[in-house]
Amino acid sequence: MTRTVFVNGTYVDEMEAKVSVFDRGFLFSDAVYEVTAVIEKKLVSWEGHTGRMRRSLGEIGINLDMSNDHLLEVHRKLLELNEVQEGLVYLQITRGGAADRDFEFPDRTIVKPTTVLFTQEKNLIHNQKLDSGLKVISFPDLRWGRSDIKSTQLLYASMIKQKALDQGKDEAWFVKDGLVIEGSSNNTFILSQDGKLITRNLSRDILAGITRDAILEYSKSSGYIIEERPFSVEEAKKSKEAFICSSTTFILPVVEIDDCKIGSGKPGKNTLKLREIYIKNITKELV
Ligand code: PDD
Repeated sequence: MTRTVFVNGTYVDEMEAKVSVFDRGFLFSDAVYEVTAVIEKKLVSWEGHTGRMRRSLGEIGINLDMSNDHLLEVHRKLLELNEVQEGLVYLQITRGGAADRDFEFPDRTIVKPTTVLFTQEKNLIHNQKLDSGLKVISFPDLRWGRSDIKSTQLLYASMIKQKALDQGKDEAWFVKDGLVIEGSSNNTFILSQDGKLITRNLSRDILAGITRDAILEYSKSSGYIIEERPFSVEEAKKSKEAFICSSTTFILPVVEIDDCKIGSGKPGKNTLKLREIYIKNITKELV
């Protein structure tokens, strides 16, 4: 069965959907995106995603003349049309297509953004990797210097993820000067031997994960001591537990980093407990 997708104001079968070959998203990755999780047919952390999307658009100067209410309506309509129980909604916004390929931005009064939304089904609650946990490899962070913008320039992230899989591992972490930056498409946490929850502080180096933010809130109210600061690969290797988090994985345990076992080499108890707390809390706030 094919899906219905949304392209510039129209709901259309995915086989019929069209975007110009001159679209700057295609030619320059001149675009931002959001991924919102769906459970029980409803959206997770909707406000966080729209807030971050507006920020990303502002940082690269794209004017989107669609309100958050309208975007919410489109998200809901696609979930209904495609009968999605659990999965993801992708929102992709490009600067649009100019008449010719040119580096400079086209005139905003003439060229309007391209807006595409599509759904993808995925088991989020019952993730197959929960029992085994993830084996991670570190790679140098060779991305551009604005990883805080959720741009569609994802080639290097795709390359390191593939390299990790080719080496029989599950996930890749970006590392700079020995310090863990973030995962290929997720944020990272460790639990120190003395029970502190540590995650890298926000800056231009990482994406301000909506899941990361929710975990900080929920874990604080569950009594965890939090440290938002850089941590090294060596510190992570010596940690009690480690995990990644994102809208597509929620929280998944990490059991190995660069061939070194974390803790007992099995998914950590606190990690699994935090995942339960996270799911319980987001379920109360679905939109
Ligand atoms: N990725 N860091 C990076 C580099 C990411 O690409 C993502 C999300 C995150 C976590 O953000 P959030 O918790 O808001 O999903 C952190 C999405 C899921 C993706 O590209 O598919």
